[in-house]
Amino acid sequence: MEIIEIIEKTRKAVAKAKAAGKKIGLVPTMGALHEGHFSLIKAAKKQTDFVVVSIFVNPAQFGPGEDIDKYPRPFDADVKACKKLGVNVVFAPTVEQMYPVRDNKSSKSDLKSTMAESKVVVSNGMYPEKNLTWINVEKLSEPLCGKSRPGHFRGVATVCAKLFNIIRPDFAFFGQKDAQQAIIVQRMVADLNMPLKIVVCPTVREKDGLAMSSRNKYLNAKERKDAVLLYAALQEAELFIKAGVRKSSELKKEMEKILKISKQIKVDYISIVDAQTLNEIKEVKGQVLIALAVKLGAARLIDNIMLDVE
Ligand code: PAF
Repeated sequence: MEIIEIIEKTRKAVAKAKAAGKKIGLVPTMGALHEGHFSLIKAAKKQTDFVVVSIFVNPAQFGPGEDIDKYPRPFDADVKACKKLGVNVVFAPTVEQMYPVRDNKSSKSDLKSTMAESKVVVSNGMYPEKNLTWINVEKLSEPLCGKSRPGHFRGVATVCAKLFNIIRPDFAFFGQKDAQQAIIVQRMVADLNMPLKIVVCPTVREKDGLAMSSRNKYLNAKERKDAVLLYAALQEAELFIKAGVRKSSELKKEMEKILKISKQIKVDYISIVDAQTLNEIKEVKGQVLIALAVKLGAARLIDNIMLDVE
């Protein structure tokens, strides 16, 4: 397994694999890998011949007040896990590689030296300021997490487009846990005619139902216990739907009751939306996404279920 920081070197490694007729799979991550990521890597190993895992804590998707400096970075453990799973390349670029300072007037050689000395402003969650090109997947980026994290999905879509341009994968693997992210990336790929397929893999859960997330590390013992209520609330909604309830307002009330069992849980949103448009629906029908986000101690946790309702 190769660990590569430089974009050109990564391109060369992938080009070599492509020339040998291999299908390329990309698993984009911000590191702190857990079983959820491992399931994506395993799916990539099954479906493709050459697997690249990118590890890049993307400053552009952190808003002000979201502490990028505290984001866990257990790089050695991540690399060890990738090796064990048979990953071919870990692409771990620096911020300067991904967001170089560019001056439109510079010559090619100027650009090289600017890149070497680049100082990308990332302090306190600011966007890398010199990037002028951003991908904004309209409408889909606004509801759900987009409301309390303005700019977040612009950062996600832009970095994914950069990664797709660098790696040129045939398939890229995302988790259903970040349902809105997966839907946005799928739409970007379709709208911009990008030549790859997005594969969305099921959410991996702890034995008690909590969705695996790098953010679970922030929970203390009491918060960890209460965190099971997220999935319990989603399951409650599913039970009520199976029993014939169709009104979203009624379902949301039942979910709130479950979440209120914990005094520590602060609900950001409970949303019941059309799984394609992400528009709120009054009555559940067709493909429906039931999603929630809460603040629990220092962690912001999200979870969702996707249902086909007759
Ligand atoms: O889901 C994540 O870890 C990130 O949002 C992603 C897709 C790697 C983009 O930075």
